[in-house]
Amino acid sequence: MEETPHRRRAPTSSRDLARYAGLFAARTGVMRSSAMRDLMAVTARPEVISLAGGLPDTSTFPAGTFAAQMTRIAQSSTAEALQYGPTEGFAETVDCILEVMGAEGMLPDPDDVIVTTGGQQAIDLVCKTLVDPGDVVICEAPTYPGAVPVFCSYQAETIQIDCDEDGMRIEELETVLARLDAEGTRPKFVYSVPSFQNPAGVSMSLERRRRLVELARQREMLVVEDSPYGLLRFSGEPLPPLYQLDGGDFVIYVGTFSKILSPGIRLGWAVAPPPVMEKIVLGKQASDLCSSTLTQHFVREYFSEGRWREYIADLVEIYRGRRDTMVEALREHFPAQATWTEPEGGLFIWATLPEYIDTSDLLAKALREDVAFVPGQAAYVDESRGRSSMRLNFSGVGDEEIREGVRRIGKAIAEQVELYGALTTDSTSPAAPAQPRVAEAAGDGGDVLPFRKAGEGAA
Ligand SMILES: Cc1ncc(COP(=O)(O)O)c(C=O)c1O
Repeated sequence: MEETPHRRRAPTSSRDLARYAGLFAARTGVMRSSAMRDLMAVTARPEVISLAGGLPDTSTFPAGTFAAQMTRIAQSSTAEALQYGPTEGFAETVDCILEVMGAEGMLPDPDDVIVTTGGQQAIDLVCKTLVDPGDVVICEAPTYPGAVPVFCSYQAETIQIDCDEDGMRIEELETVLARLDAEGTRPKFVYSVPSFQNPAGVSMSLERRRRLVELARQREMLVVEDSPYGLLRFSGEPLPPLYQLDGGDFVIYVGTFSKILSPGIRLGWAVAPPPVMEKIVLGKQASDLCSSTLTQHFVREYFSEGRWREYIADLVEIYRGRRDTMVEALREHFPAQATWTEPEGGLFIWATLPEYIDTSDLLAKALREDVAFVPGQAAYVDESRGRSSMRLNFSGVGDEEIREGVRRIGKAIAEQVELYGALTTDSTSPAAPAQPRVAEAAGDGGDVLPFRKAGEGAA
């Protein structure tokens, strides 16, 4: 998801609301807006440095390659590229998907794959297929902010399991599953972004991956593995996807071309066991008939050149440098009490500030300084959580802007810290305000995650 200039809708007047409100479906009452989408209106201003989006750096895609591909499509496939296509997607697109999944050691049956309109639609279709109002869905805390509005739209009861530097705490998951068993509730699925998670940047350890898959198989419980970032690794050893460990019986896999090629082409995919896939296909027929045939041709042409791995390798080099730049800037400009993750891949750093700083308030201040980030609460269904955290993106802008953006956020934080120091009697120095709460015990609803500042002992 995320970010291009867009039109701003005029606010709804109370007269309009009164006119239509009686017609709304009950689900609209719990629908949530996407924090990143909301931010797009402001971050589209050229003077704003946006560390908010999840934007890959599309400026690195060679314009010559783009032009040559489009020319080839025009010469050989105009009619098909402008026509409707199969709901499941073209077989050639599925071949490209198999190549990408093969690069991470997965070997799905092509019949289990559906091409979707981005990974976002795949999440939506999975929920459309599996979730009735009131059903339990389990995900990470924090979770992908774009999944929150989907779970809310389908009126799921969402339970979030805390993450630490090794991803979702599977022991906590087991406690929750035992409680649900006692209540006679079977969760519909566990949703996880195990590799370079959005928003936290952390990856699930091998041990936890194995345990999660074991639980899924023992309990015949579905796990939805959403993995846009698995191939964007800067350091450390690759970890097997959950899908690979499971073999595809209980893990539904969601992938996307957005972060390894382009989000503008709006192409992703889902892989699911045949009975689930049958329903997903029906759901997609009702949603949009088929995904763009034009951009499926684009993907086919691109993969036929055989350089897609080199392009990802280039992106990895660029993002590694930007991650380093952001970490350096955080050390320089964020207060000593702040903690942040130092991801081995992906696009995001999750930073947590002293608990008295509300990052939604801070965002208002930051926007006045022409810089944006995603406030942590967007990653929680319970919006009272995540309030002192923020998601920072390091892939969408260059080193200079990262440094300047972090400097501006640091300035806004320093002002909040100073204000807090002035308002609290027990604080003697604005530079050393009351110590923040650090790690919360699992399951107590705390907001401050026990992430370590890299290079330090456990928080
Ligand atoms: C974890 C995760 N899932 C899904 C998506 C949706 O991506 P798209 O619809 O562009 O494929 C994103 C985008 O940022 C993401 O981070």
